[in-house]
Order: sequence, then C-alpha cells, then structure tokens
Amino acid sequence: SSLTGQINQSILACVCRSPLGMSRGQILDEDISASSQWSDSTAAKYGRLDCEEGDGAWCPEIAGEPENMNEFLQIDLRSLHFITLVGTQGRHAGGIGNEFAQTYKIKYSRDGSRWISWRNRQGKEVIEANRNAYDIVLKDLEPPIIARFIRFMPVIDHSMNVCMRVELYGCEWLDGLVSYNSPVGQQMTLNGQYIYLNDSVYDGAMSNSMTEGLGQLTDGMCGLDDFTHSHVYNVWPGYDYVGWTNESFPNGYVEIMFEFDRTRNFTTMKVHCNNMFSRRVKTFQKVVCYFRSESDWEATPISFSPVMDDVNPSARFVTVSLYNHMASAIKCQYYFSDIWMMFSEITFQSDTAMYNTTLSPPKTGPPIRDDPTHKVDDSNTRILIGCLVAIIFILVAIIVIILWRQVWQKMLEKVSRRMLDDELTASLSIQSETFTYNNNSPSSVPSEQETSSTYERIFPLGPDYQEPSRLVRKLPEFSQTSEDTGELQIVQEGVPHYAEADIVNLQGVTGGNTYAVPALTMDLLSGKDVAVEEFPRKLLTFKEKLGEGQFGEVHLCEAEGIQDFMDEDFSFDVIENQTVLVAVKMLRTDANKNARNDFLKEIKIMSRLKDPNIIRLLAVCMSSDPLCMITEYMENGDLNQFLSRHEPEGMIALLSNAPTVSYSNLHHMATQIASGMKYLSSLNFVHRDLATRNCLVGKNFTIKIADFGMSRNLYSGDYYRIQGRAVLPIRWMSWESILLGKFTTSSDVWAFGVTLWEMLTFCKEQPYSQLSDEQVIENTGEFFRDQRRQIYLPQPPMCPDPVYKLMLSCWHRNTKERPSFQEIHHTLLDCKP
Ligand SMILES: *[C@@H]1O[C@H](CO)[C@@H](O)[C@H](O)[C@H]1NC(C)=O
Ligand SMILES: *[C@@H]1O[C@H](CO)[C@@H](O)[C@H](O)[C@H]1NC(C)=O
Ligand SMILES: *[C@@H]1O[C@H](CO)[C@@H](O)[C@H](O)[C@H]1NC(C)=O
Repeated sequence: SSLTGQINQSILACVCRSPLGMSRGQILDEDISASSQWSDSTAAKYGRLDCEEGDGAWCPEIAGEPENMNEFLQIDLRSLHFITLVGTQGRHAGGIGNEFAQTYKIKYSRDGSRWISWRNRQGKEVIEANRNAYDIVLKDLEPPIIARFIRFMPVIDHSMNVCMRVELYGCEWLDGLVSYNSPVGQQMTLNGQYIYLNDSVYDGAMSNSMTEGLGQLTDGMCGLDDFTHSHVYNVWPGYDYVGWTNESFPNGYVEIMFEFDRTRNFTTMKVHCNNMFSRRVKTFQKVVCYFRSESDWEATPISFSPVMDDVNPSARFVTVSLYNHMASAIKCQYYFSDIWMMFSEITFQSDTAMYNTTLSPPKTGPPIRDDPTHKVDDSNTRILIGCLVAIIFILVAIIVIILWRQVWQKMLEKVSRRMLDDELTASLSIQSETFTYNNNSPSSVPSEQETSSTYERIFPLGPDYQEPSRLVRKLPEFSQTSEDTGELQIVQEGVPHYAEADIVNLQGVTGGNTYAVPALTMDLLSGKDVAVEEFPRKLLTFKEKLGEGQFGEVHLCEAEGIQDFMDEDFSFDVIENQTVLVAVKMLRTDANKNARNDFLKEIKIMSRLKDPNIIRLLAVCMSSDPLCMITEYMENGDLNQFLSRHEPEGMIALLSNAPTVSYSNLHHMATQIASGMKYLSSLNFVHRDLATRNCLVGKNFTIKIADFGMSRNLYSGDYYRIQGRAVLPIRWMSWESILLGKFTTSSDVWAFGVTLWEMLTFCKEQPYSQLSDEQVIENTGEFFRDQRRQIYLPQPPMCPDPVYKLMLSCWHRNTKERPSFQEIHHTLLDCKP
C-alpha cells in the first residue's frame, strides 16, 4: 500500500512527458507567434526545437533599453495542457549560427488574457538554459504548468544576440479544471515550530480567500504521510499540504469551488488527505457537493461520508462518486472530523467524450430570444445544415479511405508475409558449410565451424539475412505507406550521420563482443593511443572460467595490486594490497590475424569508455601471448543470477526466508542501467545485447554494464541459433533488428524495456517464456505488420503503471517514438519511489 502511495505521488509528472509538437509539427505555424522578429527567416515559426528551417531559429529584433525583458515567443496549444518539461536550444544553422539564450523566464495563461509568471518551488523565476548553440537543454517545471498559452521570454543583455528553439512536453489536461476558489490555508504551531499550510504555488489572486487560480491541489504531487516533511528540497514544513483548522470555520466545513472549461459528465472526485490522527489531523467526515450546469446551482446536492480510519495514519486518496452529474462548476463542503483537515491533491474524473457542445443546438437559447431579429436563429440552422453536409462528406471520405486501406493492407500483408517467409526459410535452410564465420577469414574450415558454432555470433546478420529490408525498400507500396502513415521508417534512421554500412563491426573475438561503433568514431579513435597500462601476467590468479568463444576465453581471476596500474580518475574502493576480482578476456595463441586486429580494436574502444555504470578496462597484457584485456568484475556477479537468488519484499520472502531486494533498490539499479546506456548512446555506441545477464552487480546495488555475450553456456537458452549460423538474443531484440538487421540506439532502447521487465519479474522467467523461438519470430512479424495482433510482455505484478508505460514506449513500433536513454533516465529519476 505504501508502494502505491509513493507511485501515485507524482504520477502525472512522470507519465505526462510527451513532446507537444514543436519539433514534429503538430503545433501549427499559425499557433506560434512572437513579440518581434529579426527578419522573416527568423520568424516565430522557426523556433521549433531540433528543426533547421529558415535561418534556424526564432530571433527577436533587439531594440530599446538593455535588460529588455519583453521579447517573447508564444505558443498556443489550443486547449489546456499539463506541461511538465521544457526544452530549449539556440541557433546553430549548420555551424553558421551562434546565438542562444543563457537564461529565460516563462509566462503562461489559461484564457489568453491573464498572464502568470512561472516560479519554481523555491520562488525563482529565471531558468538557466543553454551554454552553446546546439545542445538541447531540458528543464523540469517544478511545479508543472496548466495552461493553454506559453511564452518563453529570453533574458536579454546586450552583449549577445539571442535566438531560441523550443519544445514543450506534457499532455492534454483532461481534468478540465480551470480554477479553484478556496479559503487560504492556515498555520499550525507544533512543539513551537510553525507549520505553514498555505497553498504554496497558487497562481490566482490571494487575499482572505484564493480565487481564479490553480495550485498545490492540482500540481500532481501528493503529500507524505507526515505532513511536516516534504519531498521537495529546501522548503518550509507543511509545504505539500493546504490545511485548515475547525476553529476558523464555525459551520464545521471548508468550501472549495471548482470551475471547469465546459460542461462535463462527472464520475468521481479523488481527494488526497492527510490522516495523521495523533496530530489531530483526519480525513473529512462528510462531503456535500453542489453542481452548476447552465447558470444555476442545482438544488439537490450529493453527500458522501467516507469510513473513518483511526488505525492507519497514512495519507490516502478518498474517492467520492459524483454519479454522472453534468456540471461546469462544482462546489464542495468538506466537513471536519477533527481539529485539522489537510489536502494535497484533488482530481476529477469526467466522461468527456459523451458531451459535444458544438454539435447540439441550444434547447432553450436565451441569445435567440434576446435577439431582435431571427437572423441568428436562421444562420444557426444554416450553419447546422452546412456542418451536417460537411460531416457526411467527411464520413464518406473516411469510409472510402478505410476500404482502400483495407484492400491495400491485405495486399501489403500478403506481399510482405510471403517475402519474409521466403527470406526466413531461405536464411534458415542455408547449410552451415556454405557459411563462414568471418567473411575475411579464409582460414575458417567447415569442421571448425561446426564445433564452435555454439559460441558464434554474427553481426550484422549475414548479407542474405538482410535481404528483406532491401526488398522492402524496393517495394513501391512500402515507401508509400511510410509516407502516408508516417509510421514506417524503413530507410535509415536513428543516428542520421552515418549509414549502416559504415558501422565498423567489432566482432568480439572472445565470444563476448563489444559494441558496434560508427566509422566516424573509429577514425577519431585511431588517432589516439591506448592509455591503458601493461599488467604483469604473473599477478593474475585463475579462479573460474566465465565463458569462451571461437578465438578466446573469459576467465574470472584475482589480480594482485592492480590499483597501482590504474588511472588516477578511477578509484577502487578496496583496501591497499588486497586482491581484486577481475574478468580477463584472452585471445588464443592460434587466433588468426583478423581476430588479433579485432582484439586490438576492442581494447582501443574499451579504453575510451569511462562511465561509472560501464565496466572499465583496467589493464592489458600485451607484451607476450596470449593477449589479455583485464576488465572490472563485480562481487555479486551478474544481475540475472543476482535477482534469481532474491525475492521481492513481501509474503513469499517472509515465508521462505529468502534474501530480498526492495522496489526502491530495483529502481535504483534500473536507473543506473539507463544512465550507462545514456553514456553509450551519447558516443553513438550501440550495445546490441543489453540484458540482465550482461549487467554486473557490485556493493550497495551498484550496476555496471558489460558484455559477456553468448559465450556463456549458462545463458545459451537466451539465444536463437539458425543452423549453427547466427546466434541471436531474439527475445531482447527489436522487430527491426530481427527482420531488417538494423541495430541502433533505438533497438538498444527496446532491449532496455525487456531488461526492465526481467528485473521486475526478478528474472524468474525468460521473456515470452510461453512462446517458442519460432513463435517469438512470428510475433516480431506482428510488430512489423502492426495490426494489433502483436503480443507484449505483460505488466509484472510489482511493476507500477508509469514504469510499465515506460516499457511499452520502449517497444513502440516506430523507432522515433521510442524514448531516448536520456529521456528514460529522466523518467526513472522522476518516478523514484
Ligand atoms: C506560504 O508560507 C511561506 C512561509 O511563511 C511563505 O514563505 C510563502 O510565501 C507563502 N506562500 C504563499 C503563496 O503565500
Ligand atoms: C454520463 O455518462 C454516463 C456513462 O457514460 C451515461 O450513462 C449518461 O447518460 C451520461 N449523462 C449525460 C447527461 O450525458
Ligand atoms: C474542533 O474539533 C474538535 C474535535 O472534534 C472539537 O472538540 C472542537 O469543539 C471543534 N471546535 C470547533 C470550534 O468547532
């Protein structure tokens, strides 16, 4: 129960983070305006994040006094939105531009006339922004904004010109609540300490009562069980709650009125209340609500008395049924049941789709009766008829399109299914003799192939296997669909700067491979020398074989005194002169030249990866054969085994006495994986085999991402073998990796989703354990066809909704819709329990 409490806490702020359409164009040019523009080519409509149209950004005309704060870029979202995050960028224009805003302020408005300056929870208005013209800087809005109009106001000083590109992130504000009016929150004295129960972020007018604004009760953040504490840093006690004492309310109730954007059909109201009865704070004992639909208050209110809880002091949501009352305003009287009553959040659920004001003509229309002529009535009818005709036309058009699409999809499906089947069977039936492990290793002989097939790993897939994508690209239907729906992005995507063919394929010669690297990065790398120290081989003591591949083996060893060989920037938390566990990858002495070269490349790349959540290359043994690379190893082994040994906190663990891992530690580990992947993706590295088996666990649940690959027998069941040819972790792979042989950061994101799923199921079963390998591939085809027949991994029992939503977003069919690791990391940080 405390888990759900914690999760509810910032549910909106966590889930509601989609770009609202500056960069993708859902926000139309006409809805973007500005106070001024430097020239036509830097007009407001060019202020779209990540777009390079026009001269590459919006730039105001700078005139007047310095410190001019009145320039703004304004976005009209057309309806109320809950905005949780903003992104800004300067004008780069392919290297020509160098203008950006170092700081800015935000103003917002719900009605277009009353503008409110945004302040953070500590009361600061100015937002720190860009340091250069190209990087996107994302800033969380704490508190979030509920508004229709947003203005970005760069803080301009005259030392430099300012240009901006922006994006808003959030979602539509479906509650429809426009404002609430309530008595101001009061002050409590507790053991000589003041607890301020005022509405800390109310944006309306404030005197004896609060009017015309929204605030704490709608900021998506629920208070803690103990109202004197807050999860917001550096604020006064009582920050999360608005509270009142019965001494100031002789009628015994507090009345709050809620105004909505239009008439809605209400189902429930949820009130998040504190219930710390030892401090004389309790949930309300009764609530009476009145409804106003047209202009009058309905005579009969509804009334509801929740069950009082004198046992459990935790804060909770009290749900009040509103019995499908139609209203545009609701007035509720909450009755005290003790001296204090404290609320942190009030939400309304309404059935918005049922009511469509624009289409139903007014039944009793005062405007018509008041009007001296009947023209209005007339024109109303005409408009109505016009609307109906238009609607009929639109419907006919839609039906035609649907029919056309159905025929089309059938054809497409047939073609693609046949094609994929053909290709797959062709690929599957290739004899192992015809295949060579490494295209440029002439020394491979068939017999060697067969014996070592278990450890082979082929990336990218063999040329024959990649064929479907090429075929697909050739089909005219295909390119058309991709334009029509904007969904299919078969052509190059992901990191746009390099073609897939340019990826230098780093075959892990020891079986565990490293990462695929764009050729670009390789060039940079080749200029640099490897900055790793040589380590004396005799100080390594063999402990255990971790795995093996065609050309080498991975051993777990103890390394004596390896601390002395390390960079200064790397700190081991071990006592001086103690032995340290390391993983040693070594190349067999009989390995061919290509394998040797690849091994050296792997060392070069590994030596560049420096991140707290990525396994570090510690040292090498290069002076004599066999060549070795020594990487970190972590005391708790890999995450898969680690979690399999543990249980979630709860009954099972209690009964079986098994060691447990709390949800917050799981979350901590997932966040670290996201952080490590964020680092890899920032270097354009594609991991290709992210899974719990490739993450190592250290002290205090620290995680480092490694890649032991399929060299380990333990996990051979996780990989799919095609007649001893390719060995693929298909249950972790995105559809486009399986079908099109495309590996990008977006396919790593997919694998991250699966990894997260594994973690939340404590690795007790394989992903899609009920499906055979062939069925998994079939399911991949369903993802490709996207006719809602694809099967997703189910929501694990202990997985909170926002986290499952995050997983689902990782498995989005369209790679562009999947979040980046930066966004994933951000999201996870935000829904920290
Ligand atoms: C609420 O009370 C605190 C503490 O006295 C004060 O600093 C803050 O300005 C008040 N907020 C509002 C909106 O009145
Ligand atoms: C409100 O919604 C409910 C359930 O969807 C429906 O049965 C009812 O007719 C609606 N009320 C009005 C007045 O539309
Ligand atoms: C406030 O509530 C307490 C506890 O229910 C009660 O004893 C007290 O009389 C109330 N005070 C007023 C002014 O109603």
